[in-house]
Formats: sequence, C-alpha cells, structure tokens
Amino acid sequence: MMDTNLLIFDSIFDTLPSGMILFEPGGAILRINQKAKEILGLDADTQPSNLKHSLPFYLSPLVALLKDSQEDIHRAEISLNLPTREEESTIGFSLKPVNAPDGQVVKILTFTDITQVLKDRLAMDKIKDELNQSKKLASIGTMIAGVAHEMNNPLTGISMSTSLIKMNLERLRKLPVTQEHPKLDDSLEKALQEVQKIARASEKAAVLVSDLLAYSKPSQVFLVPLPLKDLVADIVNALKSHPNFSQFTLQIEGETERMVLCDRVKLEQVFYNLIKNACDATDGKGTMTIFYSEHTDADGKQQVVTHVKDNGPGIDKTIINRIFDPFFTTKGHSGVGLGLSICYRTMEQHGGLLSVESVKWEGTEFKVTLPVYLEEETGKRSAAP
Ligand SMILES: Nc1ncnc2c1ncn2[C@@H]1O[C@H](COP(=O)(O)OP(=O)(O)OP(=O)(O)O)[C@@H](O)[C@H]1O
Ligand SMILES: [Mg+2]
Repeated sequence: MMDTNLLIFDSIFDTLPSGMILFEPGGAILRINQKAKEILGLDADTQPSNLKHSLPFYLSPLVALLKDSQEDIHRAEISLNLPTREEESTIGFSLKPVNAPDGQVVKILTFTDITQVLKDRLAMDKIKDELNQSKKLASIGTMIAGVAHEMNNPLTGISMSTSLIKMNLERLRKLPVTQEHPKLDDSLEKALQEVQKIARASEKAAVLVSDLLAYSKPSQVFLVPLPLKDLVADIVNALKSHPNFSQFTLQIEGETERMVLCDRVKLEQVFYNLIKNACDATDGKGTMTIFYSEHTDADGKQQVVTHVKDNGPGIDKTIINRIFDPFFTTKGHSGVGLGLSICYRTMEQHGGLLSVESVKWEGTEFKVTLPVYLEEETGKRSAAP
C-alpha cells in the first residue's frame, strides 16, 4: 500500500498554483506537477519517465540554464517558444538545491508564466510615460505663457523707444550741416542704421513672443465627423504635387472606412508635420508608407490608428523621449522644435494620441490614434434630453 504521506504530498504537489519539477542528483526528472505540464505545454498524463531523463527540445534554453547550477537561483526569466502558444512566453523561475535525507542533492525548480504580467507592466509603463509627457507639456505651457506675458511689456517699451529715437534722428538728419559739425551727417547715418537693427531684432522677438503665446493658449478645436481615409488622401495628394516633396515617395497602403471626429485643418496639420519631418530626415529623398490598423482600448472603445512610417535614419534612443518637448530640435536654426509638440497637443484635443517607435538606421513610425466615430452613438446622445 502506498505511503499516506506520499499521497498527501502528491495531491498538494499537483494542486500548487506554480509549476514545480523535482530533479534527481543526476539531473533526471523525479516529479513534475500538473501546473508545470500546463505551463510548459506538456500533456496532462506525461510521466517523468516519458520525458526520458530530459525536457523536450523547445525547453532547451531552460535545460541550458539548469545545467551546472548548483547554487540557488532566486529569480530568473527565460523566453520560450512553446508549441501550445502562438507568441513567445516568458517564464519566471527559481531553483533551489535541497539536501535529501540520504545526503544527496535534489533540485527543486519552481516557475510561473509571467507573459501577461510583463505585458501588463509594459502597458502600464507606456501609460505612465504618456501621462508624464502630458503633464510635462502642460507645465511647460504654463511656464511659456508666463515668460511670454512678461516679455511682452519690455518689448513694447523697446519698440516704442526705438521708433522715437529713429524719428528724432531722421529729423536731425534733415537739419543743415554746420561748419562746427561737418561730420554730423555721417554719425547720424550710423546711428540710424543701428537703430534699424534694434527695431528689426525687437520685431523678431515680438513675433516669437506671439508664437509662444499662441502655443501656450491653443485655439479651440471644432470637431466634425469625417472619413479618415479621405483626409489622409487629400493631404498626401496635395504634398505629392508640391515641389519640396518632388523626390520624396509618399504611398498609402490599404484603406479604412472609419469615420473620426476631427478638426480638419488641425488634423491635416498633424499629418503635414509628420510627413515634413520624414522628408527632412531623409534629405527629401526617402519613402513614407501610410497604413491603418484598429484595436479596442482598455475602456472597450474602438480606436483607429494611422501608421506613418519612414525609412529615414531613425531617432536615437537618447533623444526619443524629448522629441515631443516644445523647442526640442536637432535641426539648428532651420527648425523651431514646435512641430511635434503641437501635433501631440492636437491629438490630445481630439481625444487621441500620438506615439513614436524608431529603430536607429532603420526608420521611424509615428502612430496617430483616434477614437472611431460611431454614428449610432451620436444618435443616442442627441436623443437624450
Ligand atoms: N521622422 C523623423 N525621423 C528622424 N527624426 C525625427 C523625425 N521626426 C522628428 N524627428 C526629430 O524630432 C525633432 C523634433 O521634431 P519637431 O517637428 O518637433 O521639430 P523640428 O522639425 O526640428 O522643427 P519644426 O518646429 O520646424 O517642426 C526633430 O528635430 C528631429 O530630430
Ligand atoms: Mg518638424
């Protein structure tokens, strides 16, 4: 008759929520519980003897790690291509060598499938990043509004004084040249030139301040339902015939029948900025492919994504987190660095999102995500009192 303790051990062993495998000192499998079989994609009736002293070939990364490990492994993660799964699984495991009563060392391998946990963690990190980006932009916006407002007053003063000086100098210039001041005309000419320089610089500063004010107080969006593919096709066709894009290849692959609620001008501006950036990044000679996909977000809302992908040099990891910041540019004087930050905000105003993925030297893909507009939703809403 079987030992009662062993029976109890077996039933506990089989109902454990984690996978567990016991290895003999020689490395052969002594016991394997049901959860381990489930995680590793083995048949439920697999016996240790079926495994012929070893695990199947697709578990070779695990076998390699187990080999020679006499020490405790507290925590390790391994990626496996299990026959029961379409995508790669990540298994988190620990290994503990235990001294058996007969003095031999038995290894206990405990593991769980952490694929979903990792996915959730990644999704959470992404949400955190997006939230941080929005907060960062909001606080930069507030700061810019303050600075621009403060700069407006001294600038108005400078330009008023400059015009006064200019007026007086011009009046002086018209006075007859006397014998005592034969050089007055020359000096006046120089002074006038300098004043004109100040006037031009302050005009430039005033334009910048008004840009800053416009950035910090964005205009409202007026959302109307539109077929997304028409809007994208219109901007692509307009740019195809533009001389600046004559050597740049713009192609749309596939279609979407989805409608989105959007401010046409502002959303076109988003696509224009993305295409212009790709054109800049490829010296005007690259290729951009635009295609669509759909998914349902965490709240169950349908989203339509316009992928805008170029074959440019990509964006370095060290700067990718800064590209949506206002005034971040790698283009020196030819870029202001407001393009993407404005696009990001416009997407937020649309209840959507702008995100980026890039591989250095391979290209960059921006994703323009918008909620799908469903006509029946509006019907319901407008029917409500
Ligand atoms: N498709 C792309 N490929 C490579 N780098 C890119 C791409 N799009 C954006 N970038 C990088 O992001 C930076 C910020 O882009 P953003 O559009 O905000 O400003 P900008 O193009 O430099 O200036 P502007 O205000 O004129 O748009 C760029 O300077 C560039 O370094
Ligand atoms: Mg730009």
